[in-house]
Amino acid sequence: MDKFVIEGGVPLKGEVQISGSKNAALPIIAACLLAPGQYILKNIPRLRDIRTIAHLMRVIGAKVEFENHSMKIDTTHADFPEAPYELVKTMRASIYVLGPLLTRFGKARVSMPGGCAWGPRPVDLHLKGMELLGAKIELDRGYVNARADKLRGNHIYFDVSSVGATGNVMMAAVSAQGTTIIENAAEEPEIVNLGEFLIAMGANISGLGTKHITIEGSSELHPTEFTITPDRIETATFLTAGLITRGELTVTRCQPEHSHEVLAKLKEAGAKLSVELNSIHLKSAGAIQPVDVTTAIYPGYPTDMQAQWIALMSVANGRSVITDMIYPDRFTHVPELRRLGADIVQKNNSAFVKGVAKLKGAPVMSTDLRASASLVLSALAAEGVSDIHRVYHIDRGYERIEEKLKKLGAKIERTDDGKMY
Ligand code: UD1
Repeated sequence: MDKFVIEGGVPLKGEVQISGSKNAALPIIAACLLAPGQYILKNIPRLRDIRTIAHLMRVIGAKVEFENHSMKIDTTHADFPEAPYELVKTMRASIYVLGPLLTRFGKARVSMPGGCAWGPRPVDLHLKGMELLGAKIELDRGYVNARADKLRGNHIYFDVSSVGATGNVMMAAVSAQGTTIIENAAEEPEIVNLGEFLIAMGANISGLGTKHITIEGSSELHPTEFTITPDRIETATFLTAGLITRGELTVTRCQPEHSHEVLAKLKEAGAKLSVELNSIHLKSAGAIQPVDVTTAIYPGYPTDMQAQWIALMSVANGRSVITDMIYPDRFTHVPELRRLGADIVQKNNSAFVKGVAKLKGAPVMSTDLRASASLVLSALAAEGVSDIHRVYHIDRGYERIEEKLKKLGAKIERTDDGKMY
């Protein structure tokens, strides 16, 4: 199993290119099941989660070729409407095939995702959405069995704004009979990108990027070619890496308009930013200032950047409070950050951070994707050497992060830690 060995204390300098968004690519790949034929998806990030969904697509019967950052998907002969436990347990987003399979085959058998490293993550809203479109859902030995002779449009109100449930329902509704209205829909850029892909396939959708999405169903869908939007979480992670190491860097091929809240917080924390259409330049200026953050649904501060912000605040010039309103249990990184010398007390869904002058390198363990990113950032800022174990978590969502960091001057190596976990 791989680990990172990081010698901290080097200010990052230079230019880094952002990859395509993982969370946009996953549902868009699944959506290729909706209409048989050949699709070309561009700017697909090379990540473990992408390999997992490609594997799942092959299990379902699609042909998938992935070269450079282009994915060719042929769903002409897809014939097995099932997502097995072995794949779903490694990636919750596999639930995204539920809507497309139900639409294409009138039935689907998809393993329930279960919990994740930091707590329960239910899929009740996905199932409620499918039922409201007319599907019969049964839970059987850990699987969702769904059936629908014909899906019918409906008015769907989500109590909680959910990225996954909005995406799944959108995919099921594009071919349903009649109109579907999703109220309290997710406004995240990844859902907008999915909607744009569905429109390129011939779907009739309005209200993308608002809480109120309308889908006129029964459209004739066809395969298409599409480019995935840049990853806003990777963008924000590199900017935070620039600030925590007191560096100066330019993040290119990104979409700054997707990161207003993060940019505002980085400025408050002392970053000097200049923002162009597709790039952001960051220069650290003076001490890092303590800034409170509360995560919220888009356009609020993303929960996927909560761990990285705690890492930044752990070397700030004072105290801050970071509260996660989306996933109240998402704090497994806190004990690991403490091993690096951070002064953090966690209570309920908040972390109370008292900035320290210096973090010190230590062996630490990744527990999930974004937690690993926070450990990498802290190790880059720390004095001395850190070993970060179980980096397979980070490979789920950051493309060649060590190579990108090396180009920015970081002292980081990937090695085999010789352990089987
Ligand atoms: C997506 C992202 C993930 C991000 C999260 C929140 C993908 C592949 N993953 O996850 O990186 O952290 O959005 O921005 O895009 N909920 C329910 N019932 C449901 C579904 C969700 O109660 O059926 C709740 C969740 O517990 C959570 C909230 O809704 O509190 C938001 O979750 P959701 O937006 O669905 O997250 P995901 O789509 O799973």
